[in-house]
Amino acid sequence: MDFFLLVVFVLPAYFANALPVVLGGGTPIDLGKTLSDGTRLLGDGKTIRGFIGGVLGGTLAALIISVLFILPGFTFQTQIICGFLLSLGTMTGDSAGSFIKRRMKISRGKSFLLDQIFFLAFALIFAFPFTPSYVFELLPLIFLFALTYLLHIITNIIANRAGLKSVPW
Ligand code: CTP
Ligand code: MG
Repeated sequence: MDFFLLVVFVLPAYFANALPVVLGGGTPIDLGKTLSDGTRLLGDGKTIRGFIGGVLGGTLAALIISVLFILPGFTFQTQIICGFLLSLGTMTGDSAGSFIKRRMKISRGKSFLLDQIFFLAFALIFAFPFTPSYVFELLPLIFLFALTYLLHIITNIIANRAGLKSVPW
């Protein structure tokens, strides 16, 4: 298994996940709604602009990657569709993760293992119909989840060093 191919495959999801930090803000997706448990539906960290920016940005990344490189088992078109679905899945999983966190009374911005697992799992499930079978094997899946978790740890340490986050986790 060529791990480089897997990294290229999953890149749109990483772009979709990261871009809302810079593109987000404004009206929250839940429009400020609080559920009967007294906690927000999703919270102020999930905005409409962030969601749309993540989906469009991830898809644009897929377009640029596809101009440069077509992965085995893809055509130009299916690779872009797959990038769009990875991005849409990422943002959906990201919101679903916040929904679960709010129900568990985990406050906004607190790191949670499910953050990473949710966005990648949703991305892969959304993209499944257009994804070649070599991605959906045990070793590639373990690699993708491990890589995603590792990148999460590294980016948090960098954000902390750069003064963007007060704690390195
Ligand atoms: N963001 C956004 N819209 C989204 C997702 C993210 O505007 N749909 C922006 C928000 O400014 C958010 C930041 O990106 O604070 C980081 O995203 P994330 O870590 O997913 O949100 P958290 O603030 O940690 O909130 P939560 O606890 O709900 O995950
Ligand atoms: Mg967060």
